[in-house]
Amino acid sequence: MTPIMQLESARLLLRQWQDKDLPKFAEMCADPRVMRYFPQTLSRLESAAVIGRVRGHFAENGYGLWALERKDNGQFIGFTGLGEVGFDAPFTPATEIGWRLAYEHWGLGFASEAAWTCLRCAFGQLGMEEVVAFTAQANLPSEKVMQAIGMVRDLEGDFDHPNLPGHELQRHMLYRITREQWQQTLHE
Ligand SMILES: CC(C)(COP(=O)(O)OP(=O)(O)OC[C@H]1O[C@@H](n2cnc3c(N)ncnc32)[C@H](O)[C@@H]1OP(=O)(O)O)[C@@H](O)C(=O)NCCC(=O)NCCS
Repeated sequence: MTPIMQLESARLLLRQWQDKDLPKFAEMCADPRVMRYFPQTLSRLESAAVIGRVRGHFAENGYGLWALERKDNGQFIGFTGLGEVGFDAPFTPATEIGWRLAYEHWGLGFASEAAWTCLRCAFGQLGMEEVVAFTAQANLPSEKVMQAIGMVRDLEGDFDHPNLPGHELQRHMLYRITREQWQQTLHE
């Protein structure tokens, strides 16, 4: 499949990663505020590896975590996108939607705007039937994005993340949205 290189929303470009994104991406992944609901912050090398994996996911699947660029000032501010869930759980195989923004760009609606654009792509161009999202149960800012784009919590879907055995962040909540539910949000 031809990769979906770029998407666009009112205030953002969702684009391919550029080498010049690494310093800012590494800075945000080293910020304890951004990584509060992850087991640890990332080193520069680990952040570079994330970008490498994201590029590989685009090459393999034709979509992935798009780099976000503000149209007003050209700044790279983080990522939002789609990915195949990389572990086994009762709800897999599944496509997940995820986001991570630099702290100074929180509270401006960018994550929800980008996420909505990704859902449009998932259910439009990509013809998907369902998208899931999950996060540690205490991650309310992320849960708010899920709710803002019309996702619905699967009350029976809570699960222990297999990569976090025994960790305090292990218990995760699961949100879902089907193509039908997404279409309904368009008429609300
Ligand atoms: C999760 C995360 C992306 C949410 O970022 P965010 O900026 O709070 O999310 P949104 O883009 O939806 O913005 C919503 C906020 O912007 C405000 N806002 C301002 N202008 C807005 C606009 N034009 N449109 C919508 N919301 C707007 C809203 O009122 C809301 O503020 P509130 O939370 O104080 O009520 C961010 O906290 C983050 O990067 N966290 C770290 C990474 C992470 O945990 N990722 C998830 C792992 S699963």
